[in-house]
Amino acid sequence: MCGIVGYIGKQEAANVLLGGLKRLEYRGYDSAGIAVLNGSLSVVKQKGNVASLGEAIKQSDGMVSDATIGIGHTRWATHGDPSDRNAHPHLNAQGDIALIHNGIIENHAALRVELANHGYSFSSDTDSEVLVHLIDHLWESIPFLDFEGAVRQALTVVEGAYGICVISGREPDKVIVARKGSPLVIGIGENEFFIASDAAPLVEYTRKVVYLSDGEMAVVHRDGYKVKTIDNVVQEKALTELDFELEEIEKGGFEHFMLKEIFEQPDVMEDVMRGRVRIEDARVQLGGIADQLEQLRKAQRIIICACGTSWHAGLIGEYLIEEFANIPVEVDYASEFRYRKPIIGPGDVMLVISQSGETADTLAALRLAKEKGATVIGICNVVGSTIARETHCGMYTHAGPEIGVASTKAFTAQVIVLTMLALALSKERTMSDAEVMQALYCLDTLPERVKNILECRDQIVDIAEHYKDARNFLYLGRGYNFPVALEGALKLKEISYIHAEGYPAAEMKHGPIALIDEEMPVVVIAPKDTTYKKVLSNIEEVRTRKGRVIAIATEGDEEIKALADHVIYVPAGAPFIMPLLTVIPLQMLSYYIATLRGCDVDRPRNLAKSVTVE
Ligand code: G6P
Repeated sequence: MCGIVGYIGKQEAANVLLGGLKRLEYRGYDSAGIAVLNGSLSVVKQKGNVASLGEAIKQSDGMVSDATIGIGHTRWATHGDPSDRNAHPHLNAQGDIALIHNGIIENHAALRVELANHGYSFSSDTDSEVLVHLIDHLWESIPFLDFEGAVRQALTVVEGAYGICVISGREPDKVIVARKGSPLVIGIGENEFFIASDAAPLVEYTRKVVYLSDGEMAVVHRDGYKVKTIDNVVQEKALTELDFELEEIEKGGFEHFMLKEIFEQPDVMEDVMRGRVRIEDARVQLGGIADQLEQLRKAQRIIICACGTSWHAGLIGEYLIEEFANIPVEVDYASEFRYRKPIIGPGDVMLVISQSGETADTLAALRLAKEKGATVIGICNVVGSTIARETHCGMYTHAGPEIGVASTKAFTAQVIVLTMLALALSKERTMSDAEVMQALYCLDTLPERVKNILECRDQIVDIAEHYKDARNFLYLGRGYNFPVALEGALKLKEISYIHAEGYPAAEMKHGPIALIDEEMPVVVIAPKDTTYKKVLSNIEEVRTRKGRVIAIATEGDEEIKALADHVIYVPAGAPFIMPLLTVIPLQMLSYYIATLRGCDVDRPRNLAKSVTVE
């Protein structure tokens, strides 16, 4: 989703801004721009990527050099097509106020009419431009109002979600920022300050950051900053220390972030479990929910809410919690939950899962559940994110920054956290110590097993070569592997643009079987478990209709070789551990098919890493 950077200090602002925008590329965007202030405002903005923006800046005849204050933006089109004119920053008519905006101004149409009546004209189709004219209008028309006051007034008029950064030649030594529903973080340097929509652009400059909360704005000067609410009440903000290294957000020798993140999974898995999995005392130690554990064990039911890949992790969570903790679980798309009339209240537990911790629908679902008196627990990857802060308690996934838009390591980390949670809830309720110990041992050996799977890279490249031109794919799985089938299909469509569907294997005969012919590759997840024989029958059905079968099977399974066109083996394991193994070849298959098709896997078209608007 759109990215924001801002800078005020002593360095050349354009450089800092461009570097920051580069780090935000992973969020997905279609145009980019900067505005810097050096006496007057200079703006360079255009459709296309940050590299070409850099070229345009070079050709701007040094217009932007020497400036030490500025703002920059990567835009992901919502209102108005991706174009130079719709790119941010937006300016007022006199060209002395520049604004960048993430989010959606919901009453932009009414405001546009009102401003037009006051003589304002618009040079873009965006909802965002309305805000800069509104600030200008209020500043001009209300006596004694200063820049800060004008921004504040404007924010009381707009409805919707925003993260904004504004500068003005009329009060040149400040950057004004504000947020409601769209994240913003201020990085604190030595007489310099960095602003961004997430911490990725800040980490090369500073580790000290302040996260703005919803309804807060800040005025940032060269020598300090002040945070207030939109209603003008001063806020004391705690500093947060960033805990990741720059190299964690760089590619480390891999061709793409996604590939790096796939191959990082054995290490990530160790990080997720470190200090939490205690085999010797048959215990899972989850510090973030320790105080609420007893209450959670008594829950009548747990409702899991999430979006996208995190929702798939949630589906696996349902199998895990019902099997280990014997607590009924419902899994809901956050976007559906929030607009139903959900039956939820005190005594219920909502579990929200989000890599970014900023997904608008997930956040809204959690707020609704809280309002109705439920206890809300979070599973987030981004430390200090809005969801992490607004839940009653939670667990971090510790997967490190995930840059590739298609989620891989965050997914496996979420599933491990869910497994640990299910085991923590089970203790003394449904499982003996020996059973818990056995399950923990199984988790503990996971990283080694995943390393083995990653070694089948060449075989997967080969399979990818075979099927890179397919137009449709079907993914089938049962039980714990049904959500993996959904996730495998999602990965493929996200990055290769091949249409793919995931189905519970037994549902195939209720529809998808009609699609099967010699053109249709069918990925069947068929580990040796209680439904193995039934899944073999599904494979037979596919074969009879000349479909091509790629089977994900348990090492040593010779029987399946006779039925499938290709077999990718994963190590044997208890059913609950299988999703963490079977998903790995599916991630790799999508990656290699997409790269062979020449797709930009880290920045797939139309997708955003963090969806902070509805
Ligand atoms: C976007 C991303 C997906 C992600 C989903 C939910 O659609 O492209 O990869 O699964 O949002 O994001 P979250 O940060 O809440 O897990």
